[in-house]
Amino acid sequence: MRHLFRILAVALVLIPGVLSAKKVETVINVIPYPQSVTIGKGVFKGAGANFNCDPAIDAQSARIIRDFADKITFVSGRTNSVATPIGLDKAAAEGKMKGFVFLKDGSMGPEEYSIDIKKKTCLVKASAYNGFLYAIQTLKQLTDVAIFSGKVDPSQKFYFPAVSIKDKPRFAYRGMHLDCARHFFSVEEVKKYLDIMATYKLNRLHWHLTEDQGWRIEIKKYPKLTQIGAFRNGTMVGKDFKSNDGIRYGGYYTQDQIRDVVAYASSLGITVIPEIDLPGHMLGALAAYPELGCTGGPYEVWTRWGVSEEVMCPGKEAMFTFLEDVFTELLDLFPSEYIHIGGDECPKTEWEKCPDCQARIKALGIKADSKHTAEQYLQSYVTARVQKFLNDKGRKIIGWDEVLEGELAPGATVMSWRGVDGGIQASALGFDVIMTPNTYCYFDYYQSEDHNQEPLAIGGNLPVEKVYSYEPFEGLNASQQKHILGVQANLWTEYIATNEYLEYMLLPRMCALSEIQWCASKDKNFDRFSASMRAESFKIFDTLGYNYRKF
Ligand code: ACM
Ligand code: ZN
Repeated sequence: MRHLFRILAVALVLIPGVLSAKKVETVINVIPYPQSVTIGKGVFKGAGANFNCDPAIDAQSARIIRDFADKITFVSGRTNSVATPIGLDKAAAEGKMKGFVFLKDGSMGPEEYSIDIKKKTCLVKASAYNGFLYAIQTLKQLTDVAIFSGKVDPSQKFYFPAVSIKDKPRFAYRGMHLDCARHFFSVEEVKKYLDIMATYKLNRLHWHLTEDQGWRIEIKKYPKLTQIGAFRNGTMVGKDFKSNDGIRYGGYYTQDQIRDVVAYASSLGITVIPEIDLPGHMLGALAAYPELGCTGGPYEVWTRWGVSEEVMCPGKEAMFTFLEDVFTELLDLFPSEYIHIGGDECPKTEWEKCPDCQARIKALGIKADSKHTAEQYLQSYVTARVQKFLNDKGRKIIGWDEVLEGELAPGATVMSWRGVDGGIQASALGFDVIMTPNTYCYFDYYQSEDHNQEPLAIGGNLPVEKVYSYEPFEGLNASQQKHILGVQANLWTEYIATNEYLEYMLLPRMCALSEIQWCASKDKNFDRFSASMRAESFKIFDTLGYNYRKF
């Protein structure tokens, strides 16, 4: 009954002086908050209820419904049965069907669902896997938090409040980024990250796999990438850029492990978008294959943070061959339509001096103009060549907003990270955009101004309230708004060496992000959100064993 009590408690707070709230009409503790919520009277008892599943539902969806059923009914000592009676939809509509009823409704969008809970029935509708998945995530947040526990308590009854929910996301792209290059996180840790993303209905993991400080993905044609490029000879200590702890550090994912993560994510409705950051941020690869750089090295996997002047050499054809080989193996591992090719923070100092780069500029007839240098246009040439290669294989590129410096070919998607300006500019030019402004979405920033009370972070100040306040359409006209595919937060890990600290930086800010991604702006309300975090989400984190920052 805990949820009913919770609703009553909120009602009593909202209507001071009313001690017995006859008409209970308030909020549910679900994050991200559903689009339409109508609270009814009474509760539905899940334990012992039948599970009725429309035979038209696909096998993958039926499996997660069955898993959910097992959790609810196992504790009541019943064997779950997924019945397939004739005329299920009609019976459910007429209220003749008791228990859980899961129906396929082909008129709904792929991420849309509805839940209608009355005293005797819980009717769930969706058209596709993500819709059923999200319906179940919502149901889990509606009942006792013990549903999140791996341990089964046979006395647990799992009540659900009477409520009618119609729900679908505001944005199709709801991303969270993870930098496994500055610090390495194990497959189990990445899966735990995916689990909490799925709980809050995120659907894209942007996996940052290559960096100056380490190359993290096995490429069979280039074994030195992981033999040499995946390990660094120490790491700078704190903010002392001249220091080195002297401890060899590294790691990488085998192709089998990558496949495992991609499949696991897919079972959670999440697409993994890999990033190979090019042509800058490439010291991991250059240490392994120095012939790909302007100077020929020697290079070292970097032991400090920052932006290295040492980048790949687009004057050399070998660089393109290398990238095409790497992407060929990558495409086999990642079915994602989008592939991230980086493009950020590529200093041009080496290119200005490199005879090969200058010869390429000359051969291409590239000329500096009032807007951009010849070397910036050379980066555009790199982007365009990689883009064409990937387009020919049926994929699309995403690049950090620096890819706008020069010329960008149609069909590219821009990730706006240096504030919102890149997104505003790109959408005005007709490019699709994913908003990841550092002003609201950089979860490596501090969570308060009192840095003494926080673990060492890169800088900034991004408390959960500030994240929550972000409105992605601000400053965009209607035609620009159509180009905003969605929103993502980025979690760079220079100063984040442990999973415990990673989770602390992720939570609760990712929950705030989920409401930006999912809710219509009119449905956002920080007071409701923060009360709900306390009433439900902090308990979910405790039950599942996530570290998080309280607020
Ligand atoms: C970035 O934060 N360098 C994209
Ligand atoms: Zn060069």
